[in-house]
Amino acid sequence: MTLETIILAAGKGTRMKSDLPKVLHKVGGKPMLQHVINAAKRAGSSREVVVIGAGAELVMQTISGVEFVMQEEQLGTGHAVLSAKKNFEQSDGTVLILCGDTPLLTGELLQKFTAAHESSNCAATVLTAEMPDATGYGRVIREADGTFKKIVEEKDATDLEKKIREVNAGVYCFDVKKLFDALAKVKNDNAQGEYYLPDTLTILKGAGETIGVFTAKYADETIGINSRVQLAAADRVFRMKKNHELMDAGVTIIDPNTTFIDCDVQIGKDTTIRPNTYIEGDTTIGTDCEIGPDIRFTDMKVGNKVKAQFSYCHEAEICDGVTLGPYVHIRPGTTIGADVKIGNFVEIKNSNIGKGSKLPHLQYIGDTDMGSNVNIGCGTVTCNYDGKEKFRTKIGDNAFIGCNTNLVAPVNVGDGAYIGAGSTITKDVPKNNLAIARARQTNIEVWKDKRK
Ligand code: UD1
Ligand code: CA
Repeated sequence: MTLETIILAAGKGTRMKSDLPKVLHKVGGKPMLQHVINAAKRAGSSREVVVIGAGAELVMQTISGVEFVMQEEQLGTGHAVLSAKKNFEQSDGTVLILCGDTPLLTGELLQKFTAAHESSNCAATVLTAEMPDATGYGRVIREADGTFKKIVEEKDATDLEKKIREVNAGVYCFDVKKLFDALAKVKNDNAQGEYYLPDTLTILKGAGETIGVFTAKYADETIGINSRVQLAAADRVFRMKKNHELMDAGVTIIDPNTTFIDCDVQIGKDTTIRPNTYIEGDTTIGTDCEIGPDIRFTDMKVGNKVKAQFSYCHEAEICDGVTLGPYVHIRPGTTIGADVKIGNFVEIKNSNIGKGSKLPHLQYIGDTDMGSNVNIGCGTVTCNYDGKEKFRTKIGDNAFIGCNTNLVAPVNVGDGAYIGAGSTITKDVPKNNLAIARARQTNIEVWKDKRK
């Protein structure tokens, strides 16, 4: 069986009060819509048609690997599906319909749901969930015998109907031909003046078709995001799940409540994550590391046995055995070699730091290629920018750079070279030479007496 999917993502998301289209707001560091697409693919969908409208340009720039269809005016979920009619003229069999604002759906749930529909003779099946708080959702009204009757939107519901906690999750399987026949009959005579997709279920039922109801085991997986409060709640559920997955795989997380790990992050076993730590984007961390407290890693590649605390590192690589922090900023394009020690108060940008080098206090290193076992004294600065252009600094293996040195790039310091403290180096230093570039000290005798 081939499964095709329609994902509704054209709504403005008025209740978000945002310039960003709702479906691009992030959960677990990834746009909600991307989570929904991934869940569909995991459930075996072979084709995803995404209905876009509000912020369409931005959605198309952000999301790839799907087909897009424009819904010029947002006249309701039924109208949105109708916009995709042309894309399904060749199709028969089942179409899965999802909303772009239900980011916690899992492939497993959708797979069970579609399998249940396929093995039934229903014209359509709707996914429902028992919500602790059903506010805002369409309520599921059942017949006395428990079969499907209709879905009533919150705004159209009576007080009695509002007490129902079984909600429409906004996930459906339809026989594709029957879907579009029924959609042609949907009217907008309701509180919101919209064409409601769930009305197709009542229309099909009225035509003598059977409508299936499949209730999700974990209601959390179906929550829909309409507001920022719900966004935060979904993010929390997502992150707890991610933390639990990592702990189950052998990662120690001291305080899951203050650990924020994005969905695609990978962490090796016996690594410990301490509180107030953010691990974001495309980051991988090896085994036996101690990360945190107060770390933010974004798009980082981190080796094994790395110790890092109180620091921000992004788009860079840290090799095995590095000790980092407190208060280090590693900026894009940097590779920190194995067993390097960096911190306190150090910034490194677009540089390569060789194995075993030490940058222990108060340095700025930019556009630098540093060899191995180099010792950089406190307060050393690479002067990489002349106000117009950036230049590189090269420091050879085993060099020793005295405290408070300025290295005015472009400049090369040879292997094993020494630089006296307080030097401003403007010329290359050959291998094994000692460079001193500071005014000589003058001691003036009886200075105190003369002043009298
Ligand atoms: C919808 C359902 C409700 C269900 C809930 C589940 C309807 C009428 N109501 O309500 O029964 O409980 O989802 O979360 O379907 N969209 C479009 N074009 C439009 C309108 C909406 O593409 O013209 C998209 C939105 O971008 C969104 C999705 O459809 O991704 C759902 O729309 P939304 O307005 O959030 O519907 P709800 O009020 O949550
Ligand atoms: Ca919604």
